[in-house]
Amino acid sequence: MDYDIRDVKALQVLDSRGNPTIEVLVMTEGGGYGRAIAPAGASRGKNEAVDLRDGGKDYGGMGVRKAVSAVNNYLAPAIIGMNSYEYRAVDRKIIEVDGTRNKSKVGGNATTATSLAVIKAAADTSYLSLFEFLGGKRARTLPVPLMNVINGGVHAGNGLRIQEFMIVPYGADSFSESIRMAVEVYKELKKYLKEKYGPSATNVGDEGGFAPPLSKTSEALNALEKAITGAGYSEGDIGIALDAAATQFYDPQNRLYSIDEKKLGSGELLDFYLSLLETHHIILLEDPFAEEEPEMFGELKRKSEHALIIGDDITVTSSTLIEKYIKRDFIDGAIIKVNQIGTFSEAEDSIRLLLKEGRKAVISHRSGETEDSTIAHIAVAYETGLIKTGAPARGERTAKYNELLRIEDYLGGAAEFAGKKAILR
Ligand code: PGA
Ligand code: ZN
Repeated sequence: MDYDIRDVKALQVLDSRGNPTIEVLVMTEGGGYGRAIAPAGASRGKNEAVDLRDGGKDYGGMGVRKAVSAVNNYLAPAIIGMNSYEYRAVDRKIIEVDGTRNKSKVGGNATTATSLAVIKAAADTSYLSLFEFLGGKRARTLPVPLMNVINGGVHAGNGLRIQEFMIVPYGADSFSESIRMAVEVYKELKKYLKEKYGPSATNVGDEGGFAPPLSKTSEALNALEKAITGAGYSEGDIGIALDAAATQFYDPQNRLYSIDEKKLGSGELLDFYLSLLETHHIILLEDPFAEEEPEMFGELKRKSEHALIIGDDITVTSSTLIEKYIKRDFIDGAIIKVNQIGTFSEAEDSIRLLLKEGRKAVISHRSGETEDSTIAHIAVAYETGLIKTGAPARGERTAKYNELLRIEDYLGGAAEFAGKKAILR
């Protein structure tokens, strides 16, 4: 009874780019409540769940009043009275009410916020933190953060084609140590960029990383390495991860990639990556090729000795796609973004599948984010070992890191840190 959903309310709020997004509040009979806000991507995969937006003049067409109405008119009446503890049944109902392949009727933004609010309400009704509700008593491992400290691609206005240059402080002894190390490198990077390229090079992009006016991949990598060594760290402490988001610089007509002021075929891009892997301490490469060329992920995976090859746009948190690409051995793991698939249970299926197969599940934010910090709990609940949630700057990014610091503090002596094993194949 206590877990039964008593009420569901939606409203329009704002994300970190100033775009409207949807917040959903779910209340239970037992007095529990859960509130969740949908994030929004800029470099989206073509098979992602589709957000419902209003079009028209207000907010340049980006309003979500239709999605708010869809929650209030369709989802709420369908799930009120259901048991929030059995969130997978609630999600099945959400999927049934939507009835489309890509959540386009009620909107992936509406289903995501509702589904996440349901698990949070169930946890609250249990008087448990979300990570304990989902993961039980055994969940105690804090993830290694992948911190995006140089922004390029569609997240910045510079000439860098690689979208994200991340530092990965896996050599830390604890999560809070990893945050300290990353912040020290971030500050060192700021100093270096300012000295070398002038003060405007330290303006930040969508995910809080610096957006210096560079156009060559190697310049950004060199800046990162200078910052890592300048802060007193070595390869044993901090690795580098890249999200190429390569669909964004791929021309499907001519099958060419525009990068570093060159146009490369997929074989040439493969060689480009292999030479980067030889000369830099890159431990993870996400979306190195366009969605149209999944088999190239496999080529790179076979040839890269250490770097993990991770899918994002090609897997879109779909367990069907993840299973397909694991079977063909194209990927070492996948990015998990609940709003790519539209319900928490479907994302949970993908996480479980990846972990069962011994692959990586990288819990991730979107470039358009909010103060919602649910993903911090998801990463700990399933002990995925990896989380990707931007630079240690801007409130919508630090909200997740701060929540992880709270969880670490709450666990006290029982807290563990995923560390180096999180990045080993
Ligand atoms: P997005 O990018 O949130 O803008 O889609 C993040 C990513 O590609 O990982
Ligand atoms: Zn990505």
